[in-house]
Amino acid sequence: MLSIIVAVAKNNVIGRNNELIWHIPEDLKRFKEITTGKTIIMGRNTFFSLGRVLPNREHVVLTHLKEEVSDDPQVTTVYSLDDLQKYIDDEEENFVIGGAMMYKTLMPYANKMYITEIDEEFEGDAFFPEIDKSKWEITQKVKGLKDDKNPYDYSYVTYVRK
Ligand SMILES: NC(=O)c1ccc[n+]([C@@H]2O[C@H](COP(=O)([O-])OP(=O)(O)OC[C@H]3O[C@@H](n4cnc5c(N)ncnc54)[C@H](OP(=O)(O)O)[C@@H]3O)[C@@H](O)[C@H]2O)c1
Repeated sequence: MLSIIVAVAKNNVIGRNNELIWHIPEDLKRFKEITTGKTIIMGRNTFFSLGRVLPNREHVVLTHLKEEVSDDPQVTTVYSLDDLQKYIDDEEENFVIGGAMMYKTLMPYANKMYITEIDEEFEGDAFFPEIDKSKWEITQKVKGLKDDKNPYDYSYVTYVRK
Protein backbone atom coordinates (compact mmCIF):
# COMPACT_ATOMS: atom_id res chain seq x y z
CA MET A 1 0.00 0.00 0.00
CA LEU A 2 0.97 3.60 -0.47
CA SER A 3 0.95 6.26 2.23
CA ILE A 4 1.74 9.91 1.77
CA ILE A 5 3.85 11.85 4.23
CA VAL A 6 4.15 15.63 3.88
CA ALA A 7 4.36 18.94 5.74
CA VAL A 8 1.92 21.51 4.34
CA ALA A 9 1.43 25.20 5.05
CA LYS A 10 -2.04 26.72 5.45
CA ASN A 11 -1.98 27.91 1.82
CA ASN A 12 -0.92 24.41 0.60
CA VAL A 13 2.70 25.46 0.00
CA ILE A 14 5.24 22.67 0.49
CA GLY A 15 8.46 24.15 -0.92
CA ARG A 16 10.30 26.91 -2.73
CA ASN A 17 13.27 26.72 -5.15
CA ASN A 18 13.37 22.96 -4.61
CA GLU A 19 13.89 23.35 -0.86
CA LEU A 20 11.82 23.12 2.28
CA ILE A 21 10.97 26.59 3.61
CA TRP A 22 10.55 26.01 7.34
CA HIS A 23 12.65 24.15 9.85
CA ILE A 24 10.70 22.08 12.38
CA PRO A 25 13.14 19.57 13.94
CA GLU A 26 10.31 17.81 15.79
CA ASP A 27 8.59 17.10 12.47
CA LEU A 28 11.82 15.83 10.91
CA LYS A 29 12.24 13.53 13.91
CA ARG A 30 8.72 12.20 13.36
CA PHE A 31 9.39 11.74 9.63
CA LYS A 32 12.41 9.66 10.57
CA GLU A 33 10.43 7.56 13.08
CA ILE A 34 7.65 6.83 10.60
CA THR A 35 9.80 6.08 7.56
CA THR A 36 12.80 4.26 9.02
CA GLY A 37 12.98 0.69 7.77
CA LYS A 38 10.49 1.47 4.98
CA THR A 39 10.62 2.23 1.28
CA ILE A 40 10.40 5.92 0.42
CA ILE A 41 9.22 6.92 -3.06
CA MET A 42 10.02 10.32 -4.52
CA GLY A 43 10.44 12.38 -7.69
CA ARG A 44 13.86 13.29 -8.97
CA ASN A 45 13.63 16.88 -7.69
CA THR A 46 12.94 15.77 -4.14
CA PHE A 47 15.76 13.23 -4.29
CA PHE A 48 18.26 15.94 -5.20
CA SER A 49 16.72 18.33 -2.70
CA LEU A 50 17.43 15.82 0.10
CA GLY A 51 21.11 16.11 -0.77
CA ARG A 52 21.95 12.68 0.63
CA VAL A 53 20.67 9.15 0.94
CA LEU A 54 18.66 8.77 4.16
CA PRO A 55 19.91 5.91 6.34
CA ASN A 56 17.92 2.70 6.78
CA ARG A 57 15.42 3.39 4.05
CA GLU A 58 15.08 2.03 0.51
CA HIS A 59 14.78 4.94 -1.91
CA VAL A 60 12.76 4.69 -5.11
CA VAL A 61 13.23 7.67 -7.42
CA LEU A 62 11.04 8.39 -10.44
CA THR A 63 12.54 10.16 -13.48
CA HIS A 64 12.13 10.33 -17.25
CA LEU A 65 15.90 10.44 -17.62
CA LYS A 66 17.27 7.19 -18.94
CA GLU A 67 19.99 6.97 -16.37
CA GLU A 68 20.26 6.01 -12.70
CA VAL A 69 20.07 8.95 -10.32
CA SER A 70 22.56 7.35 -7.92
CA ASP A 71 24.87 4.37 -7.69
CA ASP A 72 24.07 3.95 -3.98
CA PRO A 73 22.66 0.42 -3.43
CA GLN A 74 19.87 1.93 -1.28
CA VAL A 75 18.55 3.82 -4.33
CA THR A 76 16.43 2.30 -7.12
CA THR A 77 15.72 4.48 -10.14
CA VAL A 78 12.40 3.88 -11.89
CA TYR A 79 11.22 5.37 -15.16
CA SER A 80 7.42 5.20 -15.25
CA LEU A 81 4.37 4.95 -13.05
CA ASP A 82 4.04 1.29 -14.09
CA ASP A 83 7.26 0.62 -12.20
CA LEU A 84 5.49 1.78 -9.02
CA GLN A 85 2.64 -0.72 -9.30
CA LYS A 86 4.40 -3.27 -7.11
CA TYR A 87 4.73 -0.71 -4.32
CA ILE A 88 1.00 0.07 -4.63
CA ASP A 89 0.05 -3.63 -4.54
CA ASP A 90 2.48 -4.44 -1.72
CA GLU A 91 1.01 -5.38 1.68
CA GLU A 92 3.81 -3.35 3.27
CA GLU A 93 3.29 0.36 3.83
CA ASN A 94 5.43 2.31 1.34
CA PHE A 95 5.80 6.07 1.64
CA VAL A 96 5.46 8.76 -1.00
CA ILE A 97 7.66 11.56 0.36
CA GLY A 98 7.23 14.16 -2.41
CA GLY A 99 7.34 16.45 -4.11
CA ALA A 100 4.40 18.31 -5.56
CA MET A 101 4.26 16.34 -8.81
CA MET A 102 4.48 13.00 -7.03
CA TYR A 103 1.80 13.87 -4.48
CA LYS A 104 -0.57 14.97 -7.25
CA THR A 105 0.04 11.87 -9.34
CA LEU A 106 0.01 9.33 -6.52
CA MET A 107 -2.68 10.61 -4.14
CA PRO A 108 -5.36 8.60 -6.02
CA TYR A 109 -3.40 5.40 -5.21
CA ALA A 110 -2.71 6.20 -1.54
CA ASN A 111 -4.75 4.83 1.36
CA LYS A 112 -3.32 6.91 4.16
CA MET A 113 -1.77 10.36 4.56
CA TYR A 114 0.39 11.64 7.42
CA ILE A 115 0.10 15.39 7.05
CA THR A 116 1.84 17.94 9.23
CA GLU A 117 -0.45 20.94 8.90
CA ILE A 118 1.41 24.16 9.67
CA ASP A 119 -0.84 26.96 10.83
CA GLU A 120 1.03 29.59 8.84
CA GLU A 121 1.16 30.83 5.24
CA PHE A 122 4.42 30.82 3.28
CA GLU A 123 5.41 32.00 -0.19
CA GLY A 124 6.41 29.08 -2.36
CA ASP A 125 6.32 27.46 -5.78
CA ALA A 126 5.43 23.87 -4.91
CA PHE A 127 1.95 22.97 -3.64
CA PHE A 128 0.14 20.02 -2.11
CA PRO A 129 -3.03 19.11 -4.04
CA GLU A 130 -6.48 19.82 -2.60
CA ILE A 131 -7.76 16.97 -0.45
CA ASP A 132 -11.20 15.78 -1.54
CA LYS A 133 -12.95 15.54 1.87
CA SER A 134 -15.58 13.22 0.40
CA LYS A 135 -12.84 10.62 -0.15
CA TRP A 136 -10.76 11.06 3.02
CA GLU A 137 -11.53 11.09 6.72
CA ILE A 138 -9.39 12.40 9.55
CA THR A 139 -8.71 9.64 12.08
CA GLN A 140 -6.22 11.47 14.29
CA LYS A 141 -5.14 15.02 15.00
CA VAL A 142 -2.35 15.73 17.48
CA LYS A 143 -0.93 19.17 18.22
CA GLY A 144 2.83 19.46 17.59
CA LEU A 145 5.30 20.84 20.10
CA LYS A 146 5.93 24.59 19.73
CA ASP A 147 9.04 26.04 21.34
CA ASP A 148 12.14 28.08 20.50
CA LYS A 149 13.37 25.45 18.06
CA ASN A 150 9.94 24.67 16.55
CA PRO A 151 8.50 28.15 16.19
CA TYR A 152 5.12 27.43 14.55
CA ASP A 153 1.71 26.12 15.51
CA TYR A 154 1.28 22.80 13.71
CA SER A 155 -0.62 19.52 14.00
CA TYR A 156 -0.01 15.97 12.90
CA VAL A 157 -3.15 14.96 11.04
CA THR A 158 -3.80 11.42 9.81
CA TYR A 159 -6.15 10.92 6.87
CA VAL A 160 -7.49 7.52 5.86
CA ARG A 161 -9.26 6.82 2.58
CA LYS A 162 -13.01 6.31 3.18
N1 LIG B 1 6.90 19.87 2.56
C1 LIG B 1 7.18 18.62 2.29
O1 LIG B 1 6.84 17.70 3.06
C2 LIG B 1 7.93 18.28 1.03
C3 LIG B 1 8.30 16.96 0.77
C4 LIG B 1 9.00 16.69 -0.42
C5 LIG B 1 9.29 17.72 -1.30
N2 LIG B 1 8.90 18.98 -1.00
C6 LIG B 1 9.18 20.09 -1.93
O2 LIG B 1 8.59 19.80 -3.19
C7 LIG B 1 9.33 20.47 -4.20
C8 LIG B 1 9.67 19.49 -5.32
O3 LIG B 1 8.48 19.10 -5.98
P1 LIG B 1 8.44 18.92 -7.58
O4 LIG B 1 7.02 18.75 -7.98
O5 LIG B 1 9.22 20.03 -8.18
O6 LIG B 1 9.31 17.63 -7.84
P2 LIG B 1 9.18 16.05 -7.53
O7 LIG B 1 7.75 15.63 -7.47
O8 LIG B 1 10.06 15.74 -6.37
O9 LIG B 1 9.90 15.45 -8.80
C9 LIG B 1 9.38 15.69 -10.09
C10 LIG B 1 10.17 14.87 -11.07
O10 LIG B 1 9.86 13.48 -10.89
C11 LIG B 1 9.90 12.83 -12.14
N3 LIG B 1 8.56 12.31 -12.48
C12 LIG B 1 7.37 12.71 -11.96
N4 LIG B 1 6.36 11.99 -12.53
C13 LIG B 1 6.95 11.13 -13.39
C14 LIG B 1 6.46 10.10 -14.25
N5 LIG B 1 5.14 9.83 -14.34
N6 LIG B 1 7.36 9.39 -14.97
C15 LIG B 1 8.69 9.62 -14.88
N7 LIG B 1 9.21 10.59 -14.07
C16 LIG B 1 8.35 11.32 -13.36
C17 LIG B 1 10.31 13.86 -13.17
O11 LIG B 1 11.73 13.81 -13.19
P3 LIG B 1 12.58 14.12 -14.55
O12 LIG B 1 12.52 15.59 -14.70
O13 LIG B 1 13.93 13.59 -14.21
O14 LIG B 1 11.89 13.36 -15.64
C18 LIG B 1 9.84 15.15 -12.53
O15 LIG B 1 10.53 16.28 -13.01
C19 LIG B 1 10.57 21.05 -3.51
O16 LIG B 1 10.36 22.41 -3.21
C20 LIG B 1 10.66 20.25 -2.23
O17 LIG B 1 11.31 20.95 -1.20
C21 LIG B 1 8.23 19.28 0.14
